[in-house]
Amino acid sequence: MTQRTIKHNLSFTLNGEITLVEVEADDRLIDVLRDRLLLTGTKQGCGDGECGACTVLLNGIPVNSCLVPAMKAQGKSVITIEGLARGDTLHPLQESFLEAGAVQCGFCTPGMILSAKALLDHKKNPADEDIKLALSGNICRCTGYVQIIEAVKIAATKLNGS
Ligand code: FES
Ligand code: FES
Repeated sequence: MTQRTIKHNLSFTLNGEITLVEVEADDRLIDVLRDRLLLTGTKQGCGDGECGACTVLLNGIPVNSCLVPAMKAQGKSVITIEGLARGDTLHPLQESFLEAGAVQCGFCTPGMILSAKALLDHKKNPADEDIKLALSGNICRCTGYVQIIEAVKIAATKLNGS
């Protein structure tokens, strides 16, 4: 017996652009982003909700895209790391991660930056504890986190225009 696969039309805003893509009901958001839409900045680490490498913003909230069915993005806004720079100009968080030496292998960096963006979008001057809490779902095996926290603080200063 042949099995019929039912396709669904997913319509959402991806990095500010209305995006339409055909998906299957059990497709994960990470796979649609990486394999179908070729946005490979979103990384897959554990594939199990543990590492945060796959973090994207869904209506401004950080989510593990390895755990989110793609159809959950229907009608919503998704921001990936590709959506942060403006042409050749990096987002202040991207600049500050480089300046602070917060990038080593870089595998965790897209997810870290998006979690940090969600924090800075609603808290202009976060304390260290706020930053640690916001990044608690993002694991870095390289940096020891000190430079990452510093990078978020530098970005906050840049975004505040001081
Ligand atoms: Fe999604 Fe690790 S790959 S949380
Ligand atoms: Fe390598 Fe964070 S820079 S995992």
